[in-house]
Order: sequence, then structure tokens, then C-alpha cells
Amino acid sequence: MSGKPLYIRNASQLVTLKGSSDAPLTGKAMEELHLIEGGSVWVEGGVIQSVGTDKKIRERYGSRLAEAEEIDATGRLVTPGLVDPHTHLVFAGSRENEFEMRLKGASYMEIMNTGGGIHATTSATREAEAERIYKESRRRLDQFLRHGVTTVEAKSGYGLSLEHELKQLEVAVELNRKHPVDVVSTFMGAHAVPVAYRGRPDEFVDEVVREMIPEVARRGVAEFNDVFCERGVFTPKQSRRILEAGKEYGLAPKIHADEIEPYGGAELAAEIGAVSADHLLKASSEGIRAMAEKGVVAVLLPGTAFFLMAEMADGRKMVDAGVPVALSTDCNPGSSPTVSLPLIMNLGCLKMGMTPAEVLTAATINAAHAIRRGHEIGSIEEGKKADLVIFDVANYMGLQYFYGSNHTEVVVKNGKVVHR
Ligand code: NIG
Ligand code: FE
Repeated sequence: MSGKPLYIRNASQLVTLKGSSDAPLTGKAMEELHLIEGGSVWVEGGVIQSVGTDKKIRERYGSRLAEAEEIDATGRLVTPGLVDPHTHLVFAGSRENEFEMRLKGASYMEIMNTGGGIHATTSATREAEAERIYKESRRRLDQFLRHGVTTVEAKSGYGLSLEHELKQLEVAVELNRKHPVDVVSTFMGAHAVPVAYRGRPDEFVDEVVREMIPEVARRGVAEFNDVFCERGVFTPKQSRRILEAGKEYGLAPKIHADEIEPYGGAELAAEIGAVSADHLLKASSEGIRAMAEKGVVAVLLPGTAFFLMAEMADGRKMVDAGVPVALSTDCNPGSSPTVSLPLIMNLGCLKMGMTPAEVLTAATINAAHAIRRGHEIGSIEEGKKADLVIFDVANYMGLQYFYGSNHTEVVVKNGKVVHR
């Protein structure tokens, strides 16, 4: 990659999170941000070349300052680009009507079981041309970027047939190719039992296992395989079958677990060696212990609990139990139509008992590990991708304290300024 070097100078706080590339952070280490006061970064070729005090960077690159693009971060907070490890980014349409129904007393599962919910978005997504889905999803991705997010995971699961799942995954792949934000694809054919298979869920599981997974893997359009393990959707037994089948084809397992009732999802995640288990509002204490033991990342989605007016997952308990915790928007049209990862971090503090330092770790390096990108992104260290955000607050606590507004000032992706 050519182009000028980029010199970000003199941040009041630079959050490096250094030394965390090999494994996600747990317990007390989640608060060790490795801050540099008056910190600067030198970027070249899309890669972080040097990180340190401004004095150190000037000593090292003094002779080349004139050739660099300089961004003055005086009085500002600089962090690694935020990473969202769980989204349903790619879909068509929206479901405001269901939001109103829920406010009038209907439950999320009732709406889904009467043909709305995931089924409504599945119909809209099946009917839409790939180009329209691309445009609607790109708009969301633009909004993610404006909130400081530089990498998102994106699940399929609104196709529920091979043809339409592939259509969704191909949109995700194209977005990854064309948009500055990196998009990491997950196959989630087992997001719901399609209406046409009602009462015959095992036949649908057969189709996922025998037809969809092999073809998705053959085309190389996904890296992970996810399943909605919940009563009335897929049982732990069906979920295990789907995730084991994915493993055989090189798709790493993830799971939507214990969202609505305790269902053994956290335990299953630990048993099969899932990369992450997500939601976990009702995860059992044994499940949480098993996840800690196996190092399964807990991807917590407080925006979903907020929007469904449900009790939050116990983030505090999970951090204290030694589970590596990450945070995500769960961006989707039903249970969490938001792109604001900073808002999610705020909910992590105010509703899940986490500290400002822990939520920052959870939305950067731990989130990167939840999508197996810990070596590439999630911290500001030499040799890593230059994905950085400048926020218009003076310290990491300010990001949570001044709540409800978007503090993103400059976003750098692969060493280029992509938002300002
Ligand atoms: O993670 N739980 C299942 N899937 C999504 C919601 C999808 C939808 O309602 O469209 C979730 O919350
Ligand atoms: Fe989800």
C-alpha cells in the first residue's frame, strides 16, 4: 500500500490494550487498558508502525514529519477501532409495527410464532433483489462507521433456504469488498424453522446440515456457523448437530444461547468449543463456569434486553467468573435496531454492572477475539491494522459519562481517514 504516513499526535489518552492479541482478557485484566497520556501513533502502509508518547514518536520520525498527514488529537481520546462481533446486518425492510405491538403487550416470541418476527424479515429479504438488500445494508454499515465501528460480524438467517441464504451471504461478502468497514460473515441458516417446515423441524435441520452447510463452505462465503438455540426454535440436540456439521466443513461454531430461558446453550457452547456464546440472559451458573473454563467468549447484547424490555444478562457476574466478555449491538430489525455500539457500552455500565474500562475492552480486543481477529485488530500495537478512532472526550470514562451522544470525531481504517 502506498500513500503518505499518518501521524496522530498527542492524544490526552491513547488506549493501547497492548499485550492482548493472543487471548481475550478476563477478570481484572479487562480493566488494564495500558493508557498512554499524550500518546501518538505513526501509521504507514495501513499498519501501525509505532506507538508511544508524542516525544518518543517525534524522536523516531522527526526527519519525516513533513511528509506525513498529521491529525492533532490534543484533548481527545484515541482508541482501537470498535469491533461489533454479532450483527444481523444484511436484510431488507423494517418492523416498526411489531415494536408498537410489543409496547401494547405482545411478546417477541408470540409475534414470531404467529408468522411475524424473523419470518416477516425472511419474507421481505426473500422478495428483495440482492441490490436492494445491499443498499439498505450499506446504509447501516455507513452508520456503524460513524459510530466508530471498523469491523462487524454479519449473519445470514433471513433466507432460510439455500438460495436465499447464499444471496444474503454474497451481499455480506460484497460489502466487505467495497466498504471501508470489514465484514466477517457467519452462516445462520438455523435462525428459525421456516413456516413451510412448521411441525417438521428435523427435516429442516437435515437440509441445513446436508445441503446448506456444505455449499456455504464450498463457496467460501462464511467463516462461522451460528444457531438460535431456544425453546420453540432449535433444541440443544439439534443445535449440536448443526454446529458439529459446520465444524466438519471448517465453519467455526457460535450460538445464540439462553436468551429467553435457561436451555443449556452455555453448556453446549463450552462442550463443543464454540468461539462465542451470545445473549446469555438466562445462562445457568454451571454454564457460565464451563464457558470460563473453556475460554468461550460471552458476547453480551444489552441493547436487545433493553429493546425487548427484558432483564439484562449478568455481565458483572460473568466478568468476575473469569469469562471473557465482549459486547455487541445485535443490530437486527426485530430485537435491536441500533448501530450504536457506544450506546451498548453505556448500557453495559449502567445496566450490567461493568466499568468503563471493561466495556471498552469488551468492544475492542475481546470483540476481536469473538470473531477470531485478535491478532489483527482490537488493540493499538505495532504490526496491527491501523484501525483507530478519535473521540471528542478527554478520557475513556468520558465516553460513558457523557452518555447519549455520538462522540466519534475521526475514524481511521487501514491507515486511511474514512470519516471526519
Ligand atoms: O439475536 N434471537 C434471534 N435473532 C435475533 C433477532 C432477529 C429478529 O428478530 O429479526 C437476535 O435477537
Ligand atoms: Fe442475534
